[in-house]
Amino acid sequence: MVSGNSRFSEEKLGKSYDLKLLGRLLPFAKPYKLLFLCSIFLVVMITLMDLSIPYITKITIDTYIVPSTDFFVSETPGEGQKKTRYLSVRMKQPGVASIVGNYPELFRVKGESAVIPYEWLSRLQEEDLANLRGRDFSGVTRMVLFLLVIVCTNFIFNFAQMMIMEYTGQKIMHDLRITLFDHIQHLDLAFFNRNPVGRLVTRATNDIQNMHEMFTSVITFVFKDLFLLVGITVVLFTINFKLALMSLMVLPVVLYFAVQFANVAREAFRTLRIKLAEINSRFAETIEGVRIIQLFRQEVNNYKAFKRINREHFLAGMKQVRVFAVFLPVIEIMGSVALATVILYGGSGILSGTITLGALVAFISYMRMFFRPIRDIAEKFSVMQNAMSSAERIFLILDQGQMVAEPASDEGLPEFKKLTGLNFENVSFSYIPGEMVLKDISFQVRAGETVAVVGPTGAGKTSLINLIVRFYDPTKGRVLVNGNDIKYYPSKSIRSRFALVTQDPFLFSGTIRDNIAQGSRTLTGQQLSHILTASNCRYLTDSLPDGVDTILSERGTSISSGERQLISIARALASDPDLIIFDEATSYIDSETEHKIQSAMKTLMAGRTSILIAHRLSTARNADRIIALRQGEIIETGSHDELIQQQGYYSRLNALQG
Ligand code: UTP
Ligand code: MG
Repeated sequence: MVSGNSRFSEEKLGKSYDLKLLGRLLPFAKPYKLLFLCSIFLVVMITLMDLSIPYITKITIDTYIVPSTDFFVSETPGEGQKKTRYLSVRMKQPGVASIVGNYPELFRVKGESAVIPYEWLSRLQEEDLANLRGRDFSGVTRMVLFLLVIVCTNFIFNFAQMMIMEYTGQKIMHDLRITLFDHIQHLDLAFFNRNPVGRLVTRATNDIQNMHEMFTSVITFVFKDLFLLVGITVVLFTINFKLALMSLMVLPVVLYFAVQFANVAREAFRTLRIKLAEINSRFAETIEGVRIIQLFRQEVNNYKAFKRINREHFLAGMKQVRVFAVFLPVIEIMGSVALATVILYGGSGILSGTITLGALVAFISYMRMFFRPIRDIAEKFSVMQNAMSSAERIFLILDQGQMVAEPASDEGLPEFKKLTGLNFENVSFSYIPGEMVLKDISFQVRAGETVAVVGPTGAGKTSLINLIVRFYDPTKGRVLVNGNDIKYYPSKSIRSRFALVTQDPFLFSGTIRDNIAQGSRTLTGQQLSHILTASNCRYLTDSLPDGVDTILSERGTSISSGERQLISIARALASDPDLIIFDEATSYIDSETEHKIQSAMKTLMAGRTSILIAHRLSTARNADRIIALRQGEIIETGSHDELIQQQGYYSRLNALQG
C-alpha cells in the first residue's frame, strides 16, 4: 500500500541529518550571491543599529539627564544612612555665575564649579533652572533626534533586507522546482513503478516550500540572532564586566533547555511530517480509487482508517504545541531571573556609585533583547531540521541517475531518418530481476510490413512494445533499428518517427485539438480536418458543442474509452510516423466503435510499417505475419492461413472467437 511505503521512506530519511546538504544547496544559491552578500551587509547594519539604541539611551542619561559629574555626599557620616545627590555646574558657563549669585543660600561654590542638592532645584525660578541646564536639554533633544534617525534607517534597512531575502528565497525555490520537474519527466519508467504519484507531488510542493522557509526566515533570523547575541554580550562586558558576568549566569541553564527543546521538537516535527505524508497519500489514493471504493462499499472502512491517521496527526500536532508551550515560558522565566539579577546588583551598584544609572537602563534593555534571539534560534532550529530533511528527499530524486540512457555523443548515430527494418535479436527482459517477462525473443519486421502479436493476457505483449519505444532497455539481447542497436539512436529521434496507440490511451486535460496536435509541431486547420476524418473522430467532434475545442477533463475521463482510442489514433496520424504500434484495448467496445477504430487504423497503417497487438483476431487476420506469444515466449509465427493449418494455439483461438 502506498501509505505504508511512504511512511517507511519518511522515517528512514528523517533520522539522517547532514550539514553536507547545505553544501549541495549552494549551487542553487550561487546565482544570487550578490543578493545574499547585500542581505548579510544589511543584517549587520540592522544589528548594529539595534545594538546602538540602548547604548544611546545610556549616553543620554549619563551625560545629560543624570550627569556623571553628579556626586553623592553622606550628610551624616556616622550613620551612613542618608546621602544627598548634588548637581554640579561650571561657573564659567555663560549666565551660570549670575544665577549662582542670586541664590547664595542654595549654592556652595567650590573653585571653578558650584554645587546644589537635587532636592533644592525646585526652589530655583523656572527660567533660571532652564538656563542652568540648557546644555543638558539641548543634548537630550539632539540624542532623541539621532535615535529617531536610527529608528527610521533601521526600518528602511529592514524592509530592504526582507524584500531581498524573500525575492532570493522565491527565486531559489522556483529554480529548484523547475530542476526537479524537468528531472522527473526524464526519469526512467521503472522509477515511477516504485514511487507513488502522491509522494512525488509532495516533493514538488511541500518539500520545496520547506526549503523556501529555510532560505528566507532561517538564514536571515539565525544569522541575525547569532550576530545580535554576540554583539549584546560584547557590549554588556564593555559597559560593566562584573554586572555582565552576574546577569549572564543563567545562560548555561538556558542553553541546556534550548538543546533539550531542540531535540524534543525535532522528534515532534518529524512525527508530524510523517503523519502529514500519510494523510496526503491516503487522500491521493482515495481520490484515485474512488470508483473502486464506492463499488466495493469501502467508504466506512476507508473513513475509519483516515480518521485514525487524522487523529494521529492531531496528537502529533498537540505534542509539538506542548513542547513549545513548555519551552517558551521557561525562556521567559530565565529572562526574568536575569533581569532581576541585573536590577538587584545594578541597583546596589548605583547606590554605591560603581554603576551609572544609564548603564543600568542599558543593561535592562540589552537583557530584554538577549532572550528573544535564543527563543528564535531554538524555534528556527526545528524549521531548519524540517528543511534539511526536505532537501534530502529532493536530492534523493535529483540523484536518481536512471534516466532513459542517451547515447554518448561519440557513439551516437546520425539522426534517425526513415525506418528500413526492425529486429529483435535474442531479447530477454524482466521488470524485477529474476522474473523474466520476455524470453529469448527474435523476429524481424521489414519496412512496410504489418506484424500482429497475439497471446493471452500477461504474455508480455505490452512489454515487447515498451522495448521498441525504449521505455525500458532489454535485459539481454538487442533491439535493432535499421540494423543498428536502438541504444545508439537518441531516443528523441526514434520516438518522433514511431507512434504508439496504447491499450488505455492517456489524454491530457485540455482541448481535443491540443491532444491531437501533441506529437506534431504545427497543424493547419486543413490538416486537422483531414486527420479528424481519417481517424473517424469527426462524428465525435461534430456531436460536441465546442467541436475540437471541447475541453477534456483530467485524463480524458469525460469521453468513452473507445472515443479515447480514436483520438489517440488521430494523435498518431498527426505525427506522420514511420512505424505504428497499436496495442488493442482489452475492454469491451461495441461493434460499431470497433469498426470505426479498425477503419481508422487502416488509414493510419496505409504505406507504413506496423506492429499490432491484437485481442480480436479480426484485427490480426490481415497482417503479413502473426506472432503468437505465451508466457514471454514465441510459440508460433506465420501468416493467418499458415497458422490455421498448423492447428496450434492460433487456430484454437480462431475457433473460439468464431
Ligand atoms: P504485459 O503487460 O506485457 O502483458 O505483462 P500483456 O501481454 O500486454 O497483457 P494484456 O493482454 O495487455 O493483459 C507481462 C508480465 O509482466 C509483468 C506483468 O505482471 C505480466 O506478468 N509486468 C508488467 C511487470 O512485472 N511490471 C510492469 O510494469 C508491467
Ligand atoms: Mg498489454
